[in-house]
Amino acid sequence: MIAAGLEEARARTLGLLEPFDDEFLTAQHSPLMSPLAWDLAHVGNYEDLWLVRALGGDAVGAQHDDVYDAFKHPRADRPSLPLLTPAQTRAYVDQVRERALGLLAAPHVSIDDPRLLVDGFVYGMVIQHEHQHDETMLATIQLSGASTPFAGGPRAIERATATTIAGGTYVVGTSEAAWAYDNERPAHEVHVEPFAIDDAPATNAEYVEFIAAGGYDDEKVWHPDGWRWRNEHDARGPLFWEPDGGVRRFGHLVDLAPDEPVQHVCWYEADAFARWAGKRLPTEVEWEVAAPPNTGHVWEWTSSSFAGWPAFVSFPYREYSEVFFGPDYKVLRGGSWATHAAAIRTTFRNWDFPIRRQIFAGFRCAADV
Ligand code: AVJ
Ligand code: FE
Repeated sequence: MIAAGLEEARARTLGLLEPFDDEFLTAQHSPLMSPLAWDLAHVGNYEDLWLVRALGGDAVGAQHDDVYDAFKHPRADRPSLPLLTPAQTRAYVDQVRERALGLLAAPHVSIDDPRLLVDGFVYGMVIQHEHQHDETMLATIQLSGASTPFAGGPRAIERATATTIAGGTYVVGTSEAAWAYDNERPAHEVHVEPFAIDDAPATNAEYVEFIAAGGYDDEKVWHPDGWRWRNEHDARGPLFWEPDGGVRRFGHLVDLAPDEPVQHVCWYEADAFARWAGKRLPTEVEWEVAAPPNTGHVWEWTSSSFAGWPAFVSFPYREYSEVFFGPDYKVLRGGSWATHAAAIRTTFRNWDFPIRRQIFAGFRCAADV
């Protein structure tokens, strides 16, 4: 089952990259993103670290640790690093996989930390890591504007109606889910006041109403930092919406689908829409307490900054979650159409800067009652 999960992730990764030539794979398509070949080698290097070395195996490519460490080189610098060629990258990730599967089949003798193997945690971590990079690579491909065979996007949904959630004490987070990341742990009680939350994310049709009503020109509905962002970018609509109508999607101009959840909006746009509608974004705790239906279409911005739950313990390394805690990042919940099921669960927490729009993110509204 673990081997099948690893294989499935790899088939998806290689399928995404398959249409592209070496020049495209090694180019930087946006300063926000890595060259696609960097992502692939990084995925392999991560597996080399966590499914080979941490489990007692000999490193396949320790000489690659520096170049493919996400913390050593900002994304904008990655194209100028001495990167492996795409062919060398494929050979590296294949070799890592072979060694990882060999260790999986043999009894583990000298592992760094026995907790890594409880319920196969470290395998789940590496599988989810690859799936998350696949979603990142899809965002890179979308940003590149290149004409591609892909046509992915969210599915049409019904317009939202609000549900009321009673105030009270609830449990959020998890101490049970085997593959949950450190930032989802531990399960703990929270108190919430009664609130209303939409049973679906906001659609393109609703977002068009916001634009038509002059939402982008109404300073009152914007967070001050959002208003500055709006002016700096002269923003008038979501990323990839063409001024004359239609949406750029994986290199094709398609009609705007009124019933699809809006995506490619930043936190400031989500927040402005909610205030224009007389509502607000949910906190991430409200989102999790409500465990809303109609998820997995777009990542949903919440009003919360990223922080550790009470009694958070970093595991197995600080750079997955802990170094991002603080006021700079906003939490997103739910998962998008591009998120693999292995990374979709009610407790899963994603995060990004409030100005970012390249991720497949929309929002749903909440309100006080
Ligand atoms: C959880 C999506 C914010 O892409 O920075 C990938 C996931 N962590 N490699 C990111 C991740 C390490 C992470 N996000
Ligand atoms: Fe990574």
